[in-house]
Amino acid sequence: MKIIAPSVLTADLWNMSSQIEAFEKGGCSWLHLDIMDGHFVPNISFGPMLLRSLRPMTEMCFDAHLMIENPEDYVDAFAAAGADMITVHAEACVHLHRTLQIIKKSGKKCGVALNPSTPLAAVEEILPVCDMILIMSVNPGFGGQSFIDLAEDKIKRLRKMIDDRGLHTLIEVDGGINFDNVQRVAACGADILVSGNALFSAHDLTSAFKDMTKLANQEV
Ligand code: DX5
Ligand code: ZN
Repeated sequence: MKIIAPSVLTADLWNMSSQIEAFEKGGCSWLHLDIMDGHFVPNISFGPMLLRSLRPMTEMCFDAHLMIENPEDYVDAFAAAGADMITVHAEACVHLHRTLQIIKKSGKKCGVALNPSTPLAAVEEILPVCDMILIMSVNPGFGGQSFIDLAEDKIKRLRKMIDDRGLHTLIEVDGGINFDNVQRVAACGADILVSGNALFSAHDLTSAFKDMTKLANQEV
């Protein structure tokens, strides 16, 4: 079953809890939380405090996407705030393997994100210790950007790399996913599809979530 993970970056801050409830009503089980520091990416979003305040609301998997420098310094704060999956960028970690060990030690699942220009080779050696690889299909920093088509072949090659090795690493795709491309991107081999703008701009969030989930799980 392919999972749709709404990205709260596009949420309406005043109505965030009712928007999350609307997705949950549609069967949503993952919530994507985009953390931006104004250094690794040219935008600032929110920190662990938001996760902490949302945590009592829901049992959904909190999928924290850290677009920050020195992410190893913040792993414990996000773990304590209620993140379930902590994803760091390969480009932000000199000692990526060590950072993943720090995440595992915190008791959380670990993911590695790759920018559109970063080759899969950046994670090839450490694939067996990754719970998830996040393929960025936009340059990180902002919601509402257009999907970069080059990502499709990268997802297919990663799917093959994981399957050939008999691993269970999840593939997440993030950026520019909408109702027109979700089925195609899912068919490339993605397990989790993040969507911000397309979902949050819908009139009825519950049915939008259900529709997108249905599309992602339909044969092409
Ligand atoms: C981009 C973020 C994405 C983004 C997704 O830096 O990591 O999660 O908010 O939003 P859309 O679907 O609007 O591209
Ligand atoms: Zn993200």
